[in-house]
Amino acid sequence: MKREIRRVLVTGALGQIGSELTVELRRKYGTDNVVASDLRDCGCFGLKESGPFHTLDVMDYNQIEKLVKDYEIDTIVHLAALLSGVGEKNPTACWNVNMNGTMNVLNVSVANKINRVFIPSSIAVWGPDCPKVAPQETPLHPTTMYGVTKVAGEVLCDYYVKKFGLDVRGLRYPGIISAETFPGGGTTDYAVAIYYEAVKRNHYTCFVKEDTRLPMMYMPDCLKATMDLLEAPFDKLKHHSDFNVGSMSFDVKTLAEAIKKYKPDFTIDYEPDFRQAIADSWPDSVDDSAAREEWGWNPSYDLDSMTKDMLQILEEKNKAGLI
Ligand code: NAD
Ligand code: SER
Repeated sequence: MKREIRRVLVTGALGQIGSELTVELRRKYGTDNVVASDLRDCGCFGLKESGPFHTLDVMDYNQIEKLVKDYEIDTIVHLAALLSGVGEKNPTACWNVNMNGTMNVLNVSVANKINRVFIPSSIAVWGPDCPKVAPQETPLHPTTMYGVTKVAGEVLCDYYVKKFGLDVRGLRYPGIISAETFPGGGTTDYAVAIYYEAVKRNHYTCFVKEDTRLPMMYMPDCLKATMDLLEAPFDKLKHHSDFNVGSMSFDVKTLAEAIKKYKPDFTIDYEPDFRQAIADSWPDSVDDSAAREEWGWNPSYDLDSMTKDMLQILEEKNKAGLI
């Protein structure tokens, strides 16, 4: 059976990744064929003006199914979630949104014969016992509620692949760095905030210590990884919802030095908070050989090329009074 992507529903479309991935999906599949949705209705990012947009709470099965039927959706990109920082402040809400939302999306997909579902996971699936370079196959012992939901989400997705033959794909995004939409409350947010503050104030007070090292990825590579996996032939995939994807890995001191290359007067100090323990529980980098072998993953950006790009975009936005 040919499982084509023609009509896509995006949940959590106003978030850091959705606000850019929706634009990419509309460019690829046609503006009217990509329905953006989010719990919020803030009218920003042009997503409402540039194509169909609906408010949608992923905790409500009926709301999801109505959009699927109304638009004859065949593909769902499920991005709605609560991330690690927000999740640790409210673990029950994190469990409810992440697990019930995922379960609803999977059940609607089976009931409506959806062709393809994309549900991202995270580096948060690992815990302190993970090797510094996270292997594709290794025990998953997260110490955050967000990580717990991501592990359970991966296992749940694989269950739907086996039990119902549903085509579900997903990858473990590293911390995503971007200049379009500010992150929604994760631990890796410092790696985005540092650029905003460098441009606005030439100084950043970081909420994790200078030797904190995590896997990171620039948004253009995040979009590439997502589109590449979304379009990979199903029969070539041995993994489904848990692909490691790597790009770059650096500590905060190295990140600050990369910024200083372009802004020599930039300064940084450190006031670690509760997110230090979360960052310390995650690995430094990941082994993404399965993604490279099964669907040809190959990132384009390194720390220097990302830094140059981020600073240029944010300087322009700052001059225009947009940040
Ligand atoms: P985000 O926090 O920026 O956006 C999430 C969006 O979901 C928000 O716009 C929010 O309004 C919406 N939302 C929350 N509750 C909802 C509900 N009940 N119904 C509908 N919408 C709801 O998140 P993001 O960074 O864009 O992340 C997208 C996905 O990627 C998530 O699954 C996240 O776990 C994963 N991920 C992100 C990163 C990263 O660094 N950004 C890293 C790893 C994994
Ligand atoms: N960027 C995410 C977070 O910090 C990782 O999944 O929560």
